[in-house]
Amino acid sequence: MLPKGTLKDRVAIITGGGTGIGFAIATEFARLGAKLVLASRSAEHLEPSAEKLRAQGADVLAVTTDVREPAQVDRLCQETLRRFGALDILVNNAAGNFVCPAEKLSVNGWNAVVNIVLNGTFYCSRAAGLEMIKSGRGGNILNIVAAYAWTGGPGTIHSASAKAGVVAMTRTLAVEWARYKIRSNAISPGPVETSGAGGQLWAAPEVREAMLKTVPRGRIGRPEEVAHAAAYLVSDYADFITGEVLVMDGGQWLGKGMFGVKRES
Ligand code: HXC
Ligand code: NAP
Repeated sequence: MLPKGTLKDRVAIITGGGTGIGFAIATEFARLGAKLVLASRSAEHLEPSAEKLRAQGADVLAVTTDVREPAQVDRLCQETLRRFGALDILVNNAAGNFVCPAEKLSVNGWNAVVNIVLNGTFYCSRAAGLEMIKSGRGGNILNIVAAYAWTGGPGTIHSASAKAGVVAMTRTLAVEWARYKIRSNAISPGPVETSGAGGQLWAAPEVREAMLKTVPRGRIGRPEEVAHAAAYLVSDYADFITGEVLVMDGGQWLGKGMFGVKRES
């Protein structure tokens, strides 16, 4: 666990910060002293979470934002600057997902997910990055991806394709914006227990059981585990790390060898 004060007075925007992994990241950043901006479409997701953090002493702004809309993303950054006078960290955590075979996926279904995950990540990175460049203080961009960005994702072609683009974006910005003291990294979680993922992707007990068998470590991950890694990557402890994608998935994506040990239960 990083010591309290590690992110003291850093201002962090977390998209999708009202639920699941995003809320866990917000909670950990708050513990470490950051000022927080939670952004997503639904005030019903944002407000109760912001209240919980405030009750723990955190300074939190909630801004309803659809990351698919560049004007709303610009407004998010402006409101952040108006309230806190700075912007140091952006976590691109918002996502949409559902399981659908490629041949049944409509154009709207494809666009719904790609616009959130790929375009939304660019709109937010662009708007936040311009502010970080202008301030001269640099900053950190952290993207949440998934390992099907490089394995492909049968049943989730929209999300897998978009996450692959986000990995490329992570590495591109790491190089382009290093001169501005902006670091760009990503975390690739395996299955993590959240209502968004579990509820959409492994709601049926037999699907969950089969999915668990693909994880050599033998369990589902916890949002707090992702939050600890996120805090490290945006902190000064990771000052020489940029363009990295940290996989934390209990060995899931590696467990595909022909002669590997199979987990039976
Ligand atoms: C087929 C579907 C569908 C489904 C929606 N669509 N759900 N098609 N199967 N289950 C289609 C619709 O029919 C429509 O196309 C188009 O997608 C847009 O649907 P809307 O409901 O209008 O979209 P919208 O309200 O914008 O909602 C976006 C969403 C929704 C992505 C569809 O699921 C959402 O808001 N998700 C946010 C939360 C979430 O998904 N969290 C999971 C993150 S977990 P037509 O053609 O009919 O108009 C994650 C895990 C990664 O990413 C890896 C795990 C290992
Ligand atoms: P989640 O709770 O459903 O989180 C998704 C968040 O995105 C929600 O807070 C949602 O809030 C927000 N969001 C969706 N569309 C948005 C939009 N257009 N604009 C702004 N915000 C939007 O699921 P999660 O499991 O915590 O996922 C968090 C991240 O981890 C995602 O990037 C996901 O792909 C990644 N991930 C998760 C897992 C897993 O197993 N859980 C595995 C790998 C990667 P609103 O509905 O209020 O907009």
